[in-house]
Amino acid sequence: MSSQRKLFVTTALPYANGKFHIGHIMEYIQADIWVRHQRMQGHMVHFVGADDAHGAPIMIAAENAGVSPQEFVGAIAAGRKQYLDGFHIQFDNWHSTDSAENTELAQGIYQQLKTNGLIATRTIEQFYDPVKGMFLPDRYIKGECPTCHAKDQYGDACEVCSSVYSPTQLINPYSALTGATPELRSSDHFFFKLSDPQVVEFLKTWTQDKNADGTGLPRLQPEMAKKASEWFEAGMADWDISRDAPYFGIEIPDAPGKYFYVWLDAPIGYLASLKNHFDKGQAREHWHAPSRTSASFDDFLADPGVEQVHFIGKDIVYFHTLFWPAMLKFSGRKTPSQVNVHGFITVSGEKMSKSRGTGIDPLKYLSLGMNPEWLRYYIAAKLNGKVEDVDFNPDDFVARVNADLIGKYVNIASRAVKFVPGGKLVAGEFAQLKPVQLVESIKHLLETREYGKALREIMAFADEVNLRFDSAAPWKLAKEGKGAQAAQVCSECLEMFKVLTACLKPVLPELAKQAEAFLQCAPLDWSNAALPLGEGHQVGDYKHLMQRVDVKQIDALFELPPEAAPAKQVPGGEELAPTISIDDFAKIDLRIARIVNCESVEGSTKLLRLTLDVGEGQTRNVFSGIASAYKPEDLVGKLTVMVANLAPRKMKFGISEGMVLAAGHADEKAQPGIYILNPWPGAQPGMRVR
Ligand code: MSP
Ligand code: ZN
Repeated sequence: MSSQRKLFVTTALPYANGKFHIGHIMEYIQADIWVRHQRMQGHMVHFVGADDAHGAPIMIAAENAGVSPQEFVGAIAAGRKQYLDGFHIQFDNWHSTDSAENTELAQGIYQQLKTNGLIATRTIEQFYDPVKGMFLPDRYIKGECPTCHAKDQYGDACEVCSSVYSPTQLINPYSALTGATPELRSSDHFFFKLSDPQVVEFLKTWTQDKNADGTGLPRLQPEMAKKASEWFEAGMADWDISRDAPYFGIEIPDAPGKYFYVWLDAPIGYLASLKNHFDKGQAREHWHAPSRTSASFDDFLADPGVEQVHFIGKDIVYFHTLFWPAMLKFSGRKTPSQVNVHGFITVSGEKMSKSRGTGIDPLKYLSLGMNPEWLRYYIAAKLNGKVEDVDFNPDDFVARVNADLIGKYVNIASRAVKFVPGGKLVAGEFAQLKPVQLVESIKHLLETREYGKALREIMAFADEVNLRFDSAAPWKLAKEGKGAQAAQVCSECLEMFKVLTACLKPVLPELAKQAEAFLQCAPLDWSNAALPLGEGHQVGDYKHLMQRVDVKQIDALFELPPEAAPAKQVPGGEELAPTISIDDFAKIDLRIARIVNCESVEGSTKLLRLTLDVGEGQTRNVFSGIASAYKPEDLVGKLTVMVANLAPRKMKFGISEGMVLAAGHADEKAQPGIYILNPWPGAQPGMRVR
């Protein structure tokens, strides 16, 4: 292992169709701690991220928002910085997959794969949404997983069993855009030949390999290497990498109307961001390759000593351990040294859900004045090197942060400094608590991403320091005229506080900075972490280093926005109907209906006669008591919601074949007003409402 490692580190590129959630922040915290640890070692690191801008979902979201896809992703990108700065995530560069660098790199890699005979053209049958008028992206086709038969799975991969397949393999597919049953139409597609024996051979070795840094650590975590061998056993299928226009993506050279599938150019975005970073000239400053005079992106990646390290979540392993290394290898590039996979964060044991108002809004956390380092500490304390989920538990959070950071760590400085006259350290028995051993152990644990273990060791050490302080009772010594003895014990405690600060620094960079200012020491790193400040070293005045978590802040963090808060009183003044089971509800078949015609009913002041299209190829006749609220001509062409499986009812004016839904007060006379339901744009006649 050469003395200075050269590292290229990334986190997964977030889709540019939404703000960061706590899962993203967790991933960035994990990677940022690792990067800071490497930098404290004196290693050179380029840590980059980017927005994953392409793909049909973003194209469709932009369309719904009435802006161009570029404007749409631009707005999302503009919001990134406040999160990253807010949680002290120190990326060297943030870029986008919708960039000149990415276009050039993606087209280049594709050309090289093609030159190497690994691109095939095939005419495939693909799902086409006849209502929307486009080929359906995988994510917009849902159905039953062909492997494990889980229902409502997306067309590209199963969230239950992680198998990857093509949408045509889904059982009972439907368009998530319109609900329509998709039609098969043929189109020419390009495939990356993953089933080619040389690719399979390469991947079989690569996934089981040691990484490139000579540390003897595997490239993949054992559970991931095992997963990979299961995938090989199941057999490698060629990968469809093209999509037809309309598509927001990168054009495929010499193939008009064809675009790269978003997952082809997404990981190339890692390289694009790095290239952008180098081209900005920022990278040059901290790359001191002994064998080269000038550093460029190309030189850097060609350097066999450079390690490429990816941090990703467990849902995108297939892409990063099969597609991505194969793309790199067979286009003549460096392959990743490590792919570090983490589990998902849950909140109080629940999967995050925006609609249910669970999860933690990272910006709300910051805006409440909560210290970002509390979260860094808490998440780190829960992380290990395995692919395990992490739970954020509010009570545990408060207890942990307050007990460890305030009660154990900060406490040492605030108590010890009082008995060191003038803040001038005196000679003590520095090595007694074995700081060198602590530092060595922490370095190893951080390297292997065993952050939880590292923090437990650090806190056990802090316990020992506090114990030493308590058993020496310097406050008594001072009273008994043994001030020198008190100063000695407390100088040792401050020395140990310094060692602890260094160990915590990757996790708590800002707190460490303040502690360094108090200690009046050089910036701490692994080379000076275990060295004593020494006799005669002058520390500064102690200012309180960190506030405790206030339980009120946690309450505020989890307080639902008013519209999502559960109703405490009788809603709308009307008694709530008795609880029903989901099965009871499932009996009611609600459908989106288009009002194709509407007219008043002769002889009735209450009723309107509606002609409804619920996608059955024929219309229905429905009478509705809404004449007081709507003029017939205002309803024609509108969408609404109807109960489609209500038994037909014979009325004075004809047969009613269902019922449209409308809101109103229980006592219509006292509080008039009827409001029929109108679905959001995008809903189509016949879609079921659940
Ligand atoms: N755009 C793709 C990645 C392309 S990488 C070339 C993507 N984006 S994502 O926004 O959905 O996810 C980004 C990262 O966040 C992924 O690593 C994903 O695993 C991670 N997480 C998403 N939800 C998460 C949790 N609840 N917990 C922890 N990480 C999670 O996938
Ligand atoms: Zn499945």
